[in-house]
Amino acid sequence: MTMKIDESKNMPTVFVIFGATGDLMKKKIAPALFNLYKKGRLPKLFKVVGVSRSILSDDDFRKRVGEILKSHGSKEDEVFRSFLEVFLFKSGQFDNEENYKNIAKYLLDIDVSWGVCSNKLFYLSVPPVHYEMILKNLSSSGLTLPCSQQGGWTRILVEKPFGKDAKTAIVLDNLLGTLFREEQIYRIDHYLAKEMLQNILTFRFSNNLFEDSWHKDFIEKIEIRLLEKIGVEERGEFYDGIGALRDVGQNHLLQMLALVAMDNPSSFDAVSIRSKRFDVLEKLKMPSVEEIKNYSYRAQYEGYKNIKGVKLKSETETYFKILAYLDTPRFKDVPVVLESGKRMREQVKEIVITFKHQTPCLCPPGIHYKNKIIFSVEPQERISIRFWSKKPGLDMEMEERELDFLYRRDGERTQYVEEYEKLLLDCILGDQTLFVSTDEVQAMWKFTDAILDVWYNDIVPLKFYNPDTDEARESSGYIEEYISSDNL
Ligand code: BG6
Repeated sequence: MTMKIDESKNMPTVFVIFGATGDLMKKKIAPALFNLYKKGRLPKLFKVVGVSRSILSDDDFRKRVGEILKSHGSKEDEVFRSFLEVFLFKSGQFDNEENYKNIAKYLLDIDVSWGVCSNKLFYLSVPPVHYEMILKNLSSSGLTLPCSQQGGWTRILVEKPFGKDAKTAIVLDNLLGTLFREEQIYRIDHYLAKEMLQNILTFRFSNNLFEDSWHKDFIEKIEIRLLEKIGVEERGEFYDGIGALRDVGQNHLLQMLALVAMDNPSSFDAVSIRSKRFDVLEKLKMPSVEEIKNYSYRAQYEGYKNIKGVKLKSETETYFKILAYLDTPRFKDVPVVLESGKRMREQVKEIVITFKHQTPCLCPPGIHYKNKIIFSVEPQERISIRFWSKKPGLDMEMEERELDFLYRRDGERTQYVEEYEKLLLDCILGDQTLFVSTDEVQAMWKFTDAILDVWYNDIVPLKFYNPDTDEARESSGYIEEYISSDNL
């Protein structure tokens, strides 16, 4: 770790943001960069060049960034002011080739002033429709080439969605592939940077507690859920074109599954971890039409169609539950329930591993619970282990108890900002562990495409639910009933 601090400090880097006046900059990038700056984790020679259609001077841009930081609670002190000096601005249209030549010249001037050939990190903070045009122009202007053979890498950070299905993802990846090598492409899935999810690998592979029982002989089922209280709010147009399965299922939920189901990567390096995640994703069993019909559920909350940008006759799901299986020796025939929804009654983001009964089990007769390990991201970051315990007293009575590990006592974290701090730093350091590989993207789409094809052919009719209730969860409860061999 200490080594990495020194490494990042000595990596002169220019971070070029296309769409620098947009939402991502406000919510994630600017505050994340400021945190890295305060922690001394940014390179000593570091500049952010914002590019957008707005006509702004460097000072206007700095003022905007300052306002963003203040809205995140920062005070205007000396550190704040010196951080703003990092920001520069170039206005220009994304479709204007001349603009890219100007940017190239501008970056060269920065290098000349520093007396080095610096690293260039490009970030596309724009809607995916602009990707192709920007990428092609980046390439034809020579911006994607390092400034010297000895050093000065160029890298690109891309936000999800990576396409709309396997086909469009291939087109995007082919385009990226003609301009960059896979080692230069950093595909963001911010779930991989969540502290609690990174911690799954430590919990599993740095301890010698449960790993020997982490397989089908001991594990009965895996449940992964991402339930949100918020709705689609002002993202109507974007969301209506994709729906819940593409928005969070194809990426966040499947990555969570990869982390709990992967084999030991033997080392914490990017190549090993990414390839073990891929091994899981590649082995997602393709469900048949019949299985999708019987064991998947999709629904939309009442009132969704009134949101600005949503089509009047929209068939887009805002909730889903899917039964999946993995064809891996470790987890063959273990049911995996993937569930996500907007406007749910509670905010729950977790992975629940349910263990089979001990045989013979000295358990109380009748209905009772099984052992569970719960990795919870929300409402709190914690790992809970549920187990049977003897009730204190003269009789041999049992009760379910819980060992509870709260990840951060102060509970302090700034959503997105923390994840982006990690992602931006890792990208500067060249660590791709928490970024999704092209193989993973393809494997995930292959699975969700199979389901979407059936859904959108109306074989699984869209249902409706009352927002802020458990209605959708209850109506799809037949999926859990089907997989539970006896009482939970
Ligand atoms: C995003 C989705 O990728 O993830 C959003 O586009 C969703 O719709 C969000 O709300 C959930 O992420 P988090 O970090 O809030 O759990």
